[in-house]
Amino acid sequence: MKKRVEPFQRAILLTLILILFFAGSSLAAQSSFRTEFMQAREANRFEALISIVKNNKDNIPAEVKSLLKDALSGDKTFYERMRIIDTASALASMHKYWNAGEKPLIEVEAVQKQLITAENERLAGIEKLARYERYPGNVLMNDKEANLSAKGLSPVVFSHWSHRLFYECRACHNGLFKPERGTNGISHAALREGRLCGACHNGSIAFGSNDTCEKCHSASKSSKTGPVDPSADTDLLTVKHTGDGLGAVWEPEKLINRALPLDRLGLVDWMELRKSGAYAPLKSHNRAEAANQGRDNVIIFTPRMPGINRVSFSHASHTKEIDCATCHPSVFKDALGANKISMAEMPDGKACGYCHGKVAFKFADCKRCHSLSPLKGAEPQGPNILMR
Ligand code: HEC
Ligand code: HEC
Ligand code: HEC
Ligand code: HEC
Ligand code: HEC
Ligand code: HEC
Repeated sequence: MKKRVEPFQRAILLTLILILFFAGSSLAAQSSFRTEFMQAREANRFEALISIVKNNKDNIPAEVKSLLKDALSGDKTFYERMRIIDTASALASMHKYWNAGEKPLIEVEAVQKQLITAENERLAGIEKLARYERYPGNVLMNDKEANLSAKGLSPVVFSHWSHRLFYECRACHNGLFKPERGTNGISHAALREGRLCGACHNGSIAFGSNDTCEKCHSASKSSKTGPVDPSADTDLLTVKHTGDGLGAVWEPEKLINRALPLDRLGLVDWMELRKSGAYAPLKSHNRAEAANQGRDNVIIFTPRMPGINRVSFSHASHTKEIDCATCHPSVFKDALGANKISMAEMPDGKACGYCHGKVAFKFADCKRCHSLSPLKGAEPQGPNILMR
């Protein structure tokens, strides 16, 4: 029996090798013809293109199919996919023109349409999500988009305002988070270890990271709820109750109408809130006594443009909440006059724009910074005043 099977097996093996050989050689032929085509196209060698397309008439339908498969597969950006489709489209169009083969171009156009529709849906989704960031300081966290949507989870919305009700900046920056988006490698593995959000969201200080997922994963594309903002009737009695549990003082009765004070633009006025004495946010997440460094001076900026009000920057009020290391040395060198500062760069997150316009009040409120007369002789005087 054995002896009669052997030649049969050998025949199968031989067939397999032959199939592989031919499949391999035809693949090689296809890709070398693709390379030739792409090189000729890049170099604008039109004559060469015509002869390549004519000589490979029979290969083109399969080559276009393989390009389309390539465009749709793997982890590619929209533009990477469209670049491959572009090659397929050029090849299919020339095939139609020179070889009268219509089908490949129809296939290319269908895939093109499919990709563009998907990209438009993706962009519309991003636009819908953008409303969650309309309130300054709201941070939409969607790094793990594919991972999240596969599990039916929405992106996370972290809002500064709701945390500022209980914490100073230094409770999080820079010990728990660098104040720059997407730089902290947030993952549930880290949260479970009690790092990042997990330093507080551990089920004892605040609800845990294994609690109802939607408490954090709240940015639903389909939901009609608007941006997450404090104007939606923040109930200060609930805030007071949470504050009591945390040891963060809240006395809403000290506020006019028991409501959060708002600035000209309708955003929470944190300076007014502090002045009212209605709240005293915590300096750290675990009530460790932070070495409360302060700097008791005011720096007056005289803009280089005549007639523009001077700007007053108070080290005292900023260092009440913010650690030196948040600003020095990464945002400002700590020597008087050492930094060239201009308005134009601020919306890009430079200088004062590192926080203002994002987490702190907006630029449209010019006079809150440009609060001092530009007139000669009107310079403020005092032992704690530095002019630059
Ligand atoms: C409860 C913690 C917490 C508090 C309190 C907090 N932040 Fe943040 N901050 C964060 C987190 C989280 C991020 C996003 C980090 C990331 O994406 O990795 C962030 C990001 C930022 C950013 C970058 C925002 C952007 O849109 O580019 C700035 C600026 C910032 N914080 C400043 C401040 C200031 C100023 C304060 C105090 C007024 C403050 N933060 C209070 C947690 C906090
Ligand atoms: C310094 C402590 C602290 C850190 C760090 C912190 N939180 Fe919170 N968070 C709280 C407290 C306290 C509350 C309010 C109490 C509660 O609801 O249990 C809260 C409330 C919330 C809420 C409900 C209120 C709202 O804004 O809708 C969300 C959502 C939230 N946190 C998300 C996050 C995320 C996401 C992170 C990390 C990027 C984070 N928090 C980091 C302390 C913290
Ligand atoms: C305290 C807030 C919070 C809660 C509650 C929470 N998450 Fe998350 N989750 C986050 C943050 C912040 C990220 C990081 C998002 C990013 O960087 O884009 C994240 C990311 C994820 C990711 C992708 C990255 C990773 O670490 O795996 C998954 C999956 C996830 N969450 C699942 C869940 C599930 C399931 C629940 C409910 C059982 C849940 N989360 C509840 C804050 C939370
Ligand atoms: C919100 C950002 C911010 C914080 C927080 C901050 N600084 Fe500054 N600091 C500045 C700016 C802006 C200047 C002006 C730089 C210039 O003139 O170019 C400055 C200037 C200085 C200077 C030179 C002028 C002077 O005041 O003598 C020193 C020293 C200094 N900072 C130390 C500190 C220390 C120490 C802390 C913490 C206690 C601190 N700063 C916190 C923004 C900040
Ligand atoms: C690290 C973050 C950060 C940076 C950088 C920063 N600020 Fe602020 N600033 C704040 C926060 C937070 C407040 C509190 C009010 C608020 O959140 O709207 C504030 C409040 C102020 C106020 C009102 C309170 C006061 O002191 O009278 C002025 C004016 C001001 N900033 C000017 C500036 C100028 C000018 C610069 C640049 C030289 C600057 N800030 C840079 C975070 C910052
Ligand atoms: C967060 C604080 C802040 C706010 C808000 C702000 N400015 Fe400025 N502005 C500054 C600082 C700081 C300088 C630099 C002064 C210097 O030359 O040293 C400056 C400089 C300027 C200059 C001089 C030219 C330049 O680019 O340096 C003009 C003009 C100006 N601001 C206009 C405005 C107008 C208009 C608004 C309102 C739309 C505004 N600023 C809001 C802080 C602010």
